[in-house]
Amino acid sequence: MLTGKTIVLGVTGSIAVYKIANLASMLVKLHADVHVIMTKNAANFIHPTTFETLTNHKCLVDTFDRNFEFHVAHVNLAAQADLMMIAPASANVIGKLAGGIADDMLTTTAMACKAPMIIAPAMNTNMYENPIVQDNLKKLRSYGKAIIEPACGMLACRDIGKGKMPEPEVLLHYILRTVAKEKDLAGKKVLVTAGPTQEAIDPVRYITNHSTGKMGYAIAENAMLRGAEVTLVTGPCSIDPPMFTEVISVISAEEMYEAVTARSEDADIIIMTAAVADYRPSIISNEKVKKKDGDLSIPLTRTKDILKTLGCRKREGQFLCGFSMETQNMLENSRKKIREKHLDMIVANNLKVAGAGFGTDTNVITMITPDSETELPLMSKQEAAGEVLDEIMRRFSKAENISCKAVR
Ligand code: CTP
Repeated sequence: MLTGKTIVLGVTGSIAVYKIANLASMLVKLHADVHVIMTKNAANFIHPTTFETLTNHKCLVDTFDRNFEFHVAHVNLAAQADLMMIAPASANVIGKLAGGIADDMLTTTAMACKAPMIIAPAMNTNMYENPIVQDNLKKLRSYGKAIIEPACGMLACRDIGKGKMPEPEVLLHYILRTVAKEKDLAGKKVLVTAGPTQEAIDPVRYITNHSTGKMGYAIAENAMLRGAEVTLVTGPCSIDPPMFTEVISVISAEEMYEAVTARSEDADIIIMTAAVADYRPSIISNEKVKKKDGDLSIPLTRTKDILKTLGCRKREGQFLCGFSMETQNMLENSRKKIREKHLDMIVANNLKVAGAGFGTDTNVITMITPDSETELPLMSKQEAAGEVLDEIMRRFSKAENISCKAVR
């Protein structure tokens, strides 16, 4: 995801420095070119060799180190950066950045850097809450720097409170959101549904399906990384929803219907990957149903078809995409769903094809529109999510161009 991107990590004196080794390693695995600059105090916590081994670049500490691959290192490195992250950022370095002081390799590079900058403060709670630090952070925000709120927990000084640097996975997501993808969905509101629904029989049992939410979560994440404002309405799933999305958790088909229809009017693009139950038990028993001799039948009632409702009230310029899982006659059945639910596109997969369907990390999809059919090979659900959004954007932009010309 980060091929061709240069990430500069500025590391200051805090015990949280050790977590940055993990971050550097994760960035390298995503093919970023990573450069680390440490303050002298940071080098008291871990040795620069750790970063040199992980990044395959010299770790800069001393401004006057002549043994470096760039000429006028701080200016050149700053110019090469696609993003600079300062984490952990001590109160001292935050103060220097806010006050325009550039007296070491890290602060001179930060001063020269025009790329987006993300700062993750880490310090004792009392230091963090000090109005001077808060004023400095406010000032940095006003200069367009992104500040990551520190987490709460037990700090190195044994105090419990705010001031912990967030885990490297969280820092990575901030970096990815900023530089991983072109922001071709900026300004678009995308509503995604994902996962199964659960239809209660009694307080103990329910009817559901095998959906894990992986495909929908991948689409929500991809849209977020491409700059969209994403709302994810999700049935019960055991995977973590993507960061920087509004997550609405629901249980039943009825709850999903309410959540989606309440938010659909605003959405530019709606993608329904959820495996919504078509039937629910007609009566939900308040008490556990006890077993008796003989068989048991449970009367079922049809749930509302959310997508069909949206299709009937689709406003001009809105794009509606469904998902269709079949075990036979995939194309024919999916085309029928496009017509009946008034969709712009449906993404079909056949549960019986190896690598497609529930729970797998891969999928084999066919994207169907009223006038086209695109069959794609086996790929990861992340890649499939990218393909689906690419196709939607191609069609969306075409529709937008047509309506612009009509207005002219
Ligand atoms: N869907 C929905 N509301 C329902 C059932 C399905 O919005 N009550 C949506 C799904 O989220 C999916 C699309 O409709 O985007 C197709 O779902 P699928 O289960 O494949 O088809 P159904 O329309 O339910 O028809 P069938 O189960 O007979 O194949």
